[in-house]
Order: sequence, then structure tokens, then C-alpha cells
Amino acid sequence: MASKSYRKKTYGNRSSSRSASSMASAKHLYLRKVFILITIILLVCVILALGISSSTWNKLSSVDHSLQLYGYQVVNEFPHDPSAFTQGLVYAGNDTLFESTGLYKHSSVRKVALRTGKVEILQKMADSYFGEGLTLLGERLFQVTWLTNVGFIYDRKNLKKLQQFSHQMEDGWGLATDGKILYGSDGTSTLYLIDPQTLIVTKKHVIQFNGHNVRYLNELEYIDGEIWANIWQTDCIVRISPNNGTILGWILLKDLREELIAAGNNGIDVLNGIAWDSDHNRIFVTGKLWPKLYEIKLHPGKKHYDNGVIEQLCLP
Ligand SMILES: *[C@@H]1O[C@H](CO)[C@@H](O)[C@H](O)[C@H]1NC(C)=O
Ligand SMILES: *[C@@H]1O[C@H](CO)[C@@H](O)[C@H](O)[C@H]1NC(C)=O
Repeated sequence: MASKSYRKKTYGNRSSSRSASSMASAKHLYLRKVFILITIILLVCVILALGISSSTWNKLSSVDHSLQLYGYQVVNEFPHDPSAFTQGLVYAGNDTLFESTGLYKHSSVRKVALRTGKVEILQKMADSYFGEGLTLLGERLFQVTWLTNVGFIYDRKNLKKLQQFSHQMEDGWGLATDGKILYGSDGTSTLYLIDPQTLIVTKKHVIQFNGHNVRYLNELEYIDGEIWANIWQTDCIVRISPNNGTILGWILLKDLREELIAAGNNGIDVLNGIAWDSDHNRIFVTGKLWPKLYEIKLHPGKKHYDNGVIEQLCLP
């Protein structure tokens, strides 16, 4: 309003007089217009730059609160062998799971009926091996072992050992596959991409959250274009982009473990083991020595979370 009335008054002055003072005021007005125009152009440029590089800005800002935090709902509970120290879990169709268990002298690969928890085939490992991550690629199961670079390949039909291999990760923790390549973890913050034919590491992503390395990446699952990883010693699952290693979200499953303990299962260990039924989009989770396996459904939780929550709960 103020500038409008100023303008009216100035134009009025110019039409009625040719005095030096009115010439000066016309020049002043011209400069003012140029200044406003330049300011508008600059503002438009800044807004465009911000829009184009918003992802870059997100990366530059040290704390990104926009990551999705997912809540969950238990839609089914199934029995799970409470002596299974679950280190690898994979869904194989027809309500069947394959599972790898750890602990020296107790390590195994199993075929398990989902609904009953019944172990249908059990392939015991040599006492010197501690079973870890497991994945199913075609007709073959791939398994890695703790504190060694040795892995094994089994026939999915009968769990007969077909082959032994060595890999290039620092240790063997988790394995998953998208049907083409293997994804591996070794307890560090690195996600490895591995050629299943040669077992050579073809690419690595270091997983970071707000500038912190996300260590202890453990059991892995490929789910609908993402890699989900249990983080050892926590109730957290991190969702990772296999393309570039960025974190796509977090799932906090604290209540599952706490409810099992409250129900008297004092000997249970941490959440570990994720499996995905791609045909019916069912997600299964369990833990080491847990008497139950859960089918869960996710729902998006708070878009923004309190500062430090993830660091505190998921980055030990
Ligand atoms: C599915 O599992 C059941 C029970 O284990 C078995 O009898 C049946 O042959 C399986 N079907 C297929 C297609 O594998
Ligand atoms: C990483 O890949 C995901 C898709 O998997 C994509 O949504 C995201 O924008 C990518 N991030 C960067 C920084 O390239």
C-alpha cells in the first residue's frame, strides 16, 4: 500500500513539472525499479537452486529428520525352535523357511515349516563352524560362517553340501540376494555386493546415518528393491538402498523382544532374522533363541523423530 501511494504521487509530480528536483526523483524511481527487478531475479534463482539441489542440501545438513520411521503390527505368530540361534532366515515359498543357526557344535542349516515351526530337514555343520547368514539363489543355498572367510553352498532339495567357497569380506555375518547378485555384511558398516559365480566383491557401500557409520550390520534380506539389515545388539532394522547405500528408513521392534521377556522367556537373545514372501508380501522376523516367529505389517510412523532417538537405540 505504501509503495502504491508513493508511485502515484511521483507520477503526478513528473507530469506537472520539469524541475531539477523532479528529474532527480524520476532517476531515483528508475534505479529503484532496477533494484527491485534484480532482487526478484536473484530470489527466483535462489528458489530454483534450492529446489534442484534439495537432496544435496539434505546431505550437507548434518541432521536429517525427514527419514521415515516405521511402526509395525503383528499379524501372525508362529512357533519357532527356541534352541535355534537364528543367524540366517529365508522364505522359500509354500510356507517353507530355510534357516541357518549359529553357536559352535550347534550350527546347522534347516528346512522349517512356517506354520508349525517343525524342522523338516536338518544339516548339522562341523563343530568348528559357527553358522551365519543364509540366502537362496535358484536351487542353491549360500551360507557364511563367523570369524572365517569360508562359506558353503547347499542343495535346497535335501540340504546336501555341494561346495565350499571363500569370500572377500572381513567376516561372515549376513547374506541376501535379489536373484542376481549376493549382498553380504561382515559386522562393519559396509554392505558388499558379491558376484555369486565368482564370489568376488564387485561393489561396496559404507552405510552412514547423520555422519555416523552404521556398524554391526547383521542378518540381511532383500525386500522389494531394498536391503533390510538387523543391527546386532539392537531392536532396529535399517532399510538401505542397494543402489547407493543410502538409508531409506528405520523399523524399531523393541516391543517384540520385551514382550517375550515379560512372558518369561528370559534366555532369549537379540532380534535377528528377516524373511520375505514376495508372492504375498509377507514379512517375517524372529530372534536368536526366540520361541516365536512373527509376521509383521509396517505402517509409517512419525515422519520426524526426536533428535538422537536413532543414534541412541540403533547405533550402539
Ligand atoms: C508344499 O509343502 C507341503 C508340506 O510340506 C508338501 O506336501 C507339498 O508337496 C509342497 N508343495 C510344493 C509345490 O512344493
Ligand atoms: C539412492 O537410491 C534410491 C533408490 O534406491 C533413491 O531413491 C535415492 O534418491 C538415491 N539417493 C542418492 C543420494 O542418489
